[in-house]
Amino acid sequence: MSFIRLENVSYTYSKGAQNEVRAVKDLSLDIEEGDLVALVGHNGSGKSTVAKLMNGLLVPTSGKVTVDGMDTANKNLLFDIRKNVGVVFQNPDNQMVATIIEDDVAFGPENLGLDPKEIRRRVDWALKSVGMYEYREGAPFRLSGGQKQRIAIAGVLALKPRAMILDESTSMLDPVGKKEIMDIVLKLNREEKITVIMITHFMDEAALADKIFVMDDGDLRLSGGKEILLSPVLEQMGLNAPPAVSIAKKLRAAGMDIGEVFTPEQLAEEICRSL
Ligand SMILES: Nc1ncnc2c1ncn2[C@@H]1O[C@H](COP(=O)(O)OP(=O)(O)O)[C@@H](O)[C@H]1O
Ligand SMILES: [Mg+2]
Repeated sequence: MSFIRLENVSYTYSKGAQNEVRAVKDLSLDIEEGDLVALVGHNGSGKSTVAKLMNGLLVPTSGKVTVDGMDTANKNLLFDIRKNVGVVFQNPDNQMVATIIEDDVAFGPENLGLDPKEIRRRVDWALKSVGMYEYREGAPFRLSGGQKQRIAIAGVLALKPRAMILDESTSMLDPVGKKEIMDIVLKLNREEKITVIMITHFMDEAALADKIFVMDDGDLRLSGGKEILLSPVLEQMGLNAPPAVSIAKKLRAAGMDIGEVFTPEQLAEEICRSL
């Protein structure tokens, strides 16, 4: 049984019969525990709807979503489902609830009704995991966008979820903030074995994932390992390959012996080897 499973899932937003949007169309996918997944696709392809379906914020119009075997359509299981799958959204400013950073991170665990000592432990651990422990007594509004997003991640981490969805969580950040978030997320996946689902339109971020799902107009267009980043289908869709992939292609065309690469680090290694 997969950890997160979508079986023939459709979701239609309706504001009256005249105004229906079929955002997700008969989509099936499986995510295993510990996976590092990227979900990519154009604006409006249904990615955020899928994120909300995966933690029960939305319930499928048809088809079935299960998290660790729990059906998201079962209201009695919603609490457990949300404890298992946390979501970090795009805009950090909309995710802050308290005026003191550590209170903000404690908000989730407090709502779980945990023992104060356990809350303290979780808050400290979560803040340390995102490198924001020394800021714990400060005010969120003083922080940079990247720091705020790290606090939002800490707030989700404090719930000790088994999976974390980042819905374009780096899209409002500068390159430094972006890299910091990606490093934290990769470390959480590697060291804490947290299942990570990155929703992104940055192909260089997708290149860090082990499994990639490409959405198009509410359905899956492609899925597989990193090799799909080399697929011409991606190009036809107007989703640019990661910079390392396209530079490698140009170098090969220019006669250089460059193997398969997906990240800048791999490209650098191949160039050195080739020279
Ligand atoms: N609350 C909503 N009400 C009506 N339509 C929506 C709503 N949210 C999203 N949509 C529509 O559903 C489709 C998929 O949106 P979304 O899941 O946000 O895609 P993405 O995250 O890939 O940009 C789009 O056509 C979008 O306009
Ligand atoms: Mg979205």
